[in-house]
Amino acid sequence: MTIRTIIRMGHPSLRTPATPFPEKDINTPRFRDLIRDMRDTLHDAGGIGLAAPQINDMVQVAIIEIDEGPSRYGDLGAVEFSVFVNPRVTVLNPETKGYWEGCLSVPGLRGFVNRPQSIQVDYLDADGCAQQRCFNGFAATVVQHEFDHLIGKLYIDHIADPALLSFEAEFEQFHLSAED
Ligand code: NI
Repeated sequence: MTIRTIIRMGHPSLRTPATPFPEKDINTPRFRDLIRDMRDTLHDAGGIGLAAPQINDMVQVAIIEIDEGPSRYGDLGAVEFSVFVNPRVTVLNPETKGYWEGCLSVPGLRGFVNRPQSIQVDYLDADGCAQQRCFNGFAATVVQHEFDHLIGKLYIDHIADPALLSFEAEFEQFHLSAED
Protein backbone atom coordinates (compact mmCIF):
# COMPACT_ATOMS: atom_id res chain seq x y z
CA MET A 1 0.00 0.00 0.00
CA THR A 2 1.63 3.20 -1.18
CA ILE A 3 -0.19 6.47 -0.99
CA ARG A 4 1.48 9.04 -3.21
CA THR A 5 1.34 12.81 -2.80
CA ILE A 6 -1.30 14.43 -5.00
CA ILE A 7 0.17 17.61 -6.44
CA ARG A 8 -1.99 20.71 -6.37
CA MET A 9 -2.89 23.55 -8.73
CA GLY A 10 0.14 25.76 -9.19
CA HIS A 11 2.49 22.81 -9.62
CA PRO A 12 3.83 23.11 -13.18
CA SER A 13 3.37 19.39 -13.86
CA LEU A 14 -0.42 19.88 -13.83
CA ARG A 15 0.05 22.20 -16.81
CA THR A 16 2.41 19.94 -18.75
CA PRO A 17 1.15 17.43 -21.34
CA ALA A 18 1.96 13.84 -20.38
CA THR A 19 3.78 11.50 -22.75
CA PRO A 20 2.23 8.28 -24.09
CA PHE A 21 2.95 5.25 -21.93
CA PRO A 22 5.09 2.80 -23.96
CA GLU A 23 2.85 -0.12 -24.95
CA LYS A 24 5.70 -2.60 -24.45
CA ASP A 25 6.05 -1.49 -20.82
CA ILE A 26 2.48 -2.43 -19.87
CA ASN A 27 2.66 -5.40 -17.50
CA THR A 28 6.12 -4.49 -16.26
CA PRO A 29 6.59 -3.97 -12.49
CA ARG A 30 6.89 -0.23 -13.16
CA PHE A 31 3.40 -0.18 -14.69
CA ARG A 32 1.82 -2.47 -12.08
CA ASP A 33 3.35 -0.37 -9.27
CA LEU A 34 2.00 2.80 -10.86
CA ILE A 35 -1.55 1.42 -11.10
CA ARG A 36 -1.41 0.04 -7.55
CA ASP A 37 -0.15 3.36 -6.17
CA MET A 38 -2.76 5.32 -8.11
CA ARG A 39 -5.55 3.08 -6.81
CA ASP A 40 -4.29 3.30 -3.21
CA THR A 41 -3.99 7.07 -3.53
CA LEU A 42 -7.46 7.43 -5.06
CA HIS A 43 -9.07 5.34 -2.32
CA ASP A 44 -7.22 7.24 0.40
CA ALA A 45 -8.42 10.55 -1.02
CA GLY A 46 -11.99 9.34 -1.50
CA GLY A 47 -12.05 10.37 -5.15
CA ILE A 48 -13.61 8.85 -8.26
CA GLY A 49 -10.75 9.35 -10.70
CA LEU A 50 -7.04 10.04 -10.81
CA ALA A 51 -4.55 10.73 -13.57
CA ALA A 52 -0.84 9.88 -13.34
CA PRO A 53 0.27 13.54 -13.68
CA GLN A 54 -1.60 14.22 -10.41
CA ILE A 55 1.03 12.13 -8.65
CA ASN A 56 3.66 13.80 -10.83
CA ASP A 57 4.20 10.81 -13.09
CA MET A 58 4.01 12.36 -16.53
CA VAL A 59 2.53 9.48 -18.53
CA GLN A 60 -0.88 9.11 -20.18
CA VAL A 61 -2.47 6.81 -17.62
CA ALA A 62 -5.73 7.46 -15.77
CA ILE A 63 -8.00 5.42 -13.52
CA ILE A 64 -11.70 5.81 -12.76
CA GLU A 65 -13.81 4.05 -10.15
CA ILE A 66 -17.30 5.24 -9.29
CA ASP A 67 -19.07 3.11 -6.71
CA GLU A 68 -22.78 2.40 -6.75
CA GLY A 69 -24.90 4.65 -4.60
CA PRO A 70 -24.52 8.17 -3.30
CA SER A 71 -21.04 9.73 -3.35
CA ARG A 72 -19.81 13.27 -2.84
CA TYR A 73 -21.13 13.84 -6.35
CA GLY A 74 -24.56 12.41 -5.63
CA ASP A 75 -25.99 9.18 -7.02
CA LEU A 76 -24.98 9.39 -10.65
CA GLY A 77 -24.24 5.86 -11.80
CA ALA A 78 -21.35 3.46 -11.32
CA VAL A 79 -18.18 2.76 -13.29
CA GLU A 80 -16.17 -0.29 -12.21
CA PHE A 81 -12.45 0.22 -11.59
CA SER A 82 -10.99 1.00 -15.01
CA VAL A 83 -7.48 1.72 -16.26
CA PHE A 84 -6.99 3.88 -19.36
CA VAL A 85 -3.63 4.01 -21.10
CA ASN A 86 -3.06 6.52 -23.92
CA PRO A 87 -6.78 7.32 -24.29
CA ARG A 88 -8.30 9.19 -27.22
CA VAL A 89 -11.77 10.74 -26.99
CA THR A 90 -14.25 11.08 -29.83
CA VAL A 91 -17.34 13.16 -29.14
CA LEU A 92 -20.41 11.28 -30.40
CA ASN A 93 -22.90 14.03 -29.61
CA PRO A 94 -21.80 17.63 -29.06
CA GLU A 95 -24.80 18.43 -26.85
CA THR A 96 -23.51 19.39 -23.41
CA LYS A 97 -24.71 19.16 -19.83
CA GLY A 98 -23.15 20.74 -16.77
CA TYR A 99 -22.08 19.28 -13.44
CA TRP A 100 -20.38 20.75 -10.41
CA GLU A 101 -16.92 19.26 -10.72
CA GLY A 102 -14.24 18.94 -8.10
CA CYS A 103 -10.63 17.84 -8.35
CA LEU A 104 -8.18 16.30 -5.89
CA SER A 105 -5.57 18.72 -7.28
CA VAL A 106 -7.87 21.71 -6.66
CA PRO A 107 -9.00 20.83 -3.13
CA GLY A 108 -11.88 22.62 -1.45
CA LEU A 109 -13.49 23.99 -4.60
CA ARG A 110 -16.34 23.11 -6.92
CA GLY A 111 -17.03 24.56 -10.33
CA PHE A 112 -19.84 24.17 -12.84
CA VAL A 113 -18.61 22.80 -16.17
CA ASN A 114 -20.50 21.91 -19.34
CA ARG A 115 -19.16 18.98 -21.37
CA PRO A 116 -20.45 16.67 -24.12
CA GLN A 117 -22.40 13.80 -22.59
CA SER A 118 -21.84 11.08 -25.17
CA ILE A 119 -18.28 10.09 -26.02
CA GLN A 120 -16.27 7.17 -27.34
CA VAL A 121 -12.88 6.33 -25.86
CA ASP A 122 -10.15 4.32 -27.60
CA TYR A 123 -7.44 3.18 -25.19
CA LEU A 124 -5.26 0.36 -23.94
CA ASP A 125 -6.43 -1.45 -20.83
CA ALA A 126 -4.28 -2.71 -17.94
CA ASP A 127 -3.37 -5.80 -19.98
CA GLY A 128 -2.31 -3.74 -22.99
CA CYS A 129 -5.39 -4.72 -25.00
CA ALA A 130 -6.94 -2.14 -27.32
CA GLN A 131 -10.41 -1.23 -26.12
CA GLN A 132 -13.23 0.95 -27.34
CA ARG A 133 -15.88 2.05 -24.93
CA CYS A 134 -18.71 4.60 -24.84
CA PHE A 135 -19.62 6.75 -21.86
CA ASN A 136 -22.74 8.81 -21.31
CA GLY A 137 -23.90 11.39 -18.79
CA PHE A 138 -21.92 11.96 -15.61
CA ALA A 139 -19.45 9.18 -16.47
CA ALA A 140 -18.64 11.00 -19.73
CA THR A 141 -17.92 14.14 -17.70
CA VAL A 142 -15.63 12.24 -15.31
CA VAL A 143 -13.75 10.61 -18.19
CA GLN A 144 -13.16 13.96 -19.91
CA HIS A 145 -12.09 15.56 -16.61
CA GLU A 146 -9.49 12.84 -15.98
CA PHE A 147 -8.17 12.85 -19.54
CA ASP A 148 -7.77 16.64 -19.40
CA HIS A 149 -5.09 15.98 -16.78
CA LEU A 150 -3.14 14.09 -19.46
CA ILE A 151 -2.93 17.21 -21.64
CA GLY A 152 -2.17 19.75 -18.94
CA LYS A 153 -5.71 21.04 -18.45
CA LEU A 154 -7.84 21.50 -15.33
CA TYR A 155 -11.62 21.71 -15.00
CA ILE A 156 -11.38 25.36 -14.05
CA ASP A 157 -10.28 26.05 -17.66
CA HIS A 158 -13.80 25.08 -18.77
CA ILE A 159 -15.81 27.18 -16.31
CA ALA A 160 -17.89 29.46 -18.52
CA ASP A 161 -19.33 31.53 -15.68
CA PRO A 162 -16.77 32.45 -12.98
CA ALA A 163 -19.69 33.03 -10.57
CA LEU A 164 -20.12 29.25 -10.64
CA LEU A 165 -16.81 28.54 -8.93
CA SER A 166 -17.34 28.00 -5.21
CA PHE A 167 -15.77 26.73 -2.03
CA GLU A 168 -17.32 23.42 -1.00
CA ALA A 169 -19.14 24.76 2.06
CA GLU A 170 -20.69 27.59 0.04
CA PHE A 171 -21.46 25.15 -2.78
CA GLU A 172 -23.47 23.05 -0.34
CA GLN A 173 -25.12 26.09 1.24
CA PHE A 174 -26.06 28.05 -1.86
CA HIS A 175 -25.84 25.87 -4.96
CA LEU A 176 -26.48 22.20 -4.15
CA SER A 177 -30.16 22.62 -3.27
CA ALA A 178 -30.69 24.83 -6.32
CA GLU A 179 -29.77 21.91 -8.61
CA ASP A 180 -32.58 20.29 -10.59
NI1 NI B 1 -9.00 16.30 -11.41
